[in-house]
Amino acid sequence: MDTTRLVGKNILITGAAQGMGAAIARDYAAQGANVCLGDVNTEGVDEVVAEINAAGGGKAIGVRLDVTSEEEAQAAVDAVVEAFGEINVIVNNAGINKPLFFEDITRDNWNKIMDVNAWGTLNCMQKAANQMIAQGKRDYPYKIINVGSILSRDAFDDVVVYSASKHAVLAMIKGGAKALVDHNITVNGYGPGVVRTELWEQLDKDLVAIGKFDKEGESMDSLAENMILMKRYSYPEDVTGTASFLASPDSDYMTGQLIMIDGGMVLH
Ligand SMILES: NC(=O)c1ccc[n+]([C@@H]2O[C@H](COP(=O)([O-])OP(=O)(O)OC[C@H]3O[C@@H](n4cnc5c(N)ncnc54)[C@H](O)[C@@H]3O)[C@@H](O)[C@H]2O)c1
Repeated sequence: MDTTRLVGKNILITGAAQGMGAAIARDYAAQGANVCLGDVNTEGVDEVVAEINAAGGGKAIGVRLDVTSEEEAQAAVDAVVEAFGEINVIVNNAGINKPLFFEDITRDNWNKIMDVNAWGTLNCMQKAANQMIAQGKRDYPYKIINVGSILSRDAFDDVVVYSASKHAVLAMIKGGAKALVDHNITVNGYGPGVVRTELWEQLDKDLVAIGKFDKEGESMDSLAENMILMKRYSYPEDVTGTASFLASPDSDYMTGQLIMIDGGMVLH
């Protein structure tokens, strides 16, 4: 690993207490970035921050961040500036899911998922972008990285609301790229497929509860067998390479793009 690839980058990662957000934060810091981990789970954040600082790469700080709160999003951006001098990159990774069959979808299910996944992403994009604009243009781009999904381009019958929220994330990648290009801010993202994290452990239980699968563990194996070309599901470490590419100078001439990291599930 090149431990200097991200030196000089100060990066805010939302939803970083566990799962892919934590893996990305560890990987960025190992490549020299200073990272700020934001999450509603502050205990989890504290653990990952301590681990990163003990490892001795870039520095880590943690903040309580509910991505749906304008005040907390602003405070998280301010914390990066206070600790590291400026913000260069944000990764909008926080996300939730709660499957329901189409006929059972409720207003509450819609509001909760759209609030975190769609509004939360826009909210944090905006607060970070406004700070980047205030810092002034550099000869390299500031970067906004949004976490989409295979369901930014497809939709499943038991997660229609989540699919809508991740289509919204794709729209914000495209619209954000157009809105922010004159400030030398790029907006890109990646779309994981089936990743073994706490989110999927919970999803697996919920899918059994609504009767989609008979027993726990079946959902991941079934998708791997029937829908993933590579015939295996993934782990957080499968996405870190693309996440660090998008934060690095290697992606400077890219904007408005969503890259799938799904072992071959969605080929468009
Ligand atoms: N796991 C998968 O298979 C998969 C597939 C495609 C996309 N994704 C997306 O990847 C991202 C990360 O997922 P993961 O699987 O690592 O999930 P995870 O549940 O392991 O981690 C998500 C983190 O987000 C935090 N979070 C939830 N609501 C929040 C809020 N309002 N404000 C701040 N933090 C909040 C949680 O506390 C948690 O630490 C999500 O956007 C998810 O939708 C996951």
